Amino acid sequence: MQRRLAKSDSRAALVRTLAGRRVALLFYEASTRTRVSFEFAAKNLGAFTTVVTAAASSIEKGESLVDTGYTIQATGAEAIVMRHPASGAAALLARHIHVPLINAGDGMHEHPTQALLDAFTMLQHKKTLRGLHVLIVGDIFHSRVARSNVQLLSKFGSRITLCGPDALLPRLSATLADGVVVSRDFDAELKSADVIMMLRVQKERLAGLDLNVADYIAQYQLTGERLQAAKRGAVVMHPGPMIRGMEITAEVADGPQSVIVEQVQNGVLTRMAILARAFAMSGRGER
Ligand code: NCD
Repeated sequence: MQRRLAKSDSRAALVRTLAGRRVALLFYEASTRTRVSFEFAAKNLGAFTTVVTAAASSIEKGESLVDTGYTIQATGAEAIVMRHPASGAAALLARHIHVPLINAGDGMHEHPTQALLDAFTMLQHKKTLRGLHVLIVGDIFHSRVARSNVQLLSKFGSRITLCGPDALLPRLSATLADGVVVSRDFDAELKSADVIMMLRVQKERLAGLDLNVADYIAQYQLTGERLQAAKRGAVVMHPGPMIRGMEITAEVADGPQSVIVEQVQNGVLTRMAILARAFAMSGRGER
């Protein structure tokens, strides 16, 4: 009973954080977990939300990104969360509006809130990010998740290895941050990885790429057998959406080393913190 009371007290405190504030979710690209978790995060803090998607809005009628941003701001939105298929779109709109803009993924560029929730999840399982061997596997070339994780984890001194075939992982990727290693040998890297982060092969961005799916699966799919030969205590992560049978088997995705569901749960908490901070920094928090 006491525990329940404490819980409802803290809930009541949370919903006061952004009580009555207005958050617009502007999604030009498909999303499930990012969109839902931002919406629940905002609502958990007491904010009102509205979701604008490309279909069924003036975007479909040809309105420009900046004009849509101005419009949403003029209706009273006090923060905008945006996902857009073009790299740099978030930085562009942020230069034109005066409310906080949170990047929920821009093209192949960055997905910073995903990296933050990933780091939070790693810290629930590992003592420190310093020296942690994080193995990121798959379609690195198209992955904003990989890019943001490299940016964040390198700041905290993690040992980052990017792994995948040439077509999905150009050698140049090693220049993303100091100390980043590019490897083609998944089995060898598994022997020392503390965190194994699997990425989806982004079919929608594959046009023109030379990739044999059967070869890819043979070399880079995370199977139960591979995981058994991996370092003991390694955790398996995936930002989703995962394609079972492609980059990961169902056995591994649902297995005891998988923290994939925790990542999604942590997405809500992390985004609550991000929204609260964005409002606090812009002086638009609790009145
Ligand atoms: C990813 C994305 O959209 O960048 N998913 C996510 O937000 N958790 C990865 C992907 O699409 O494969």
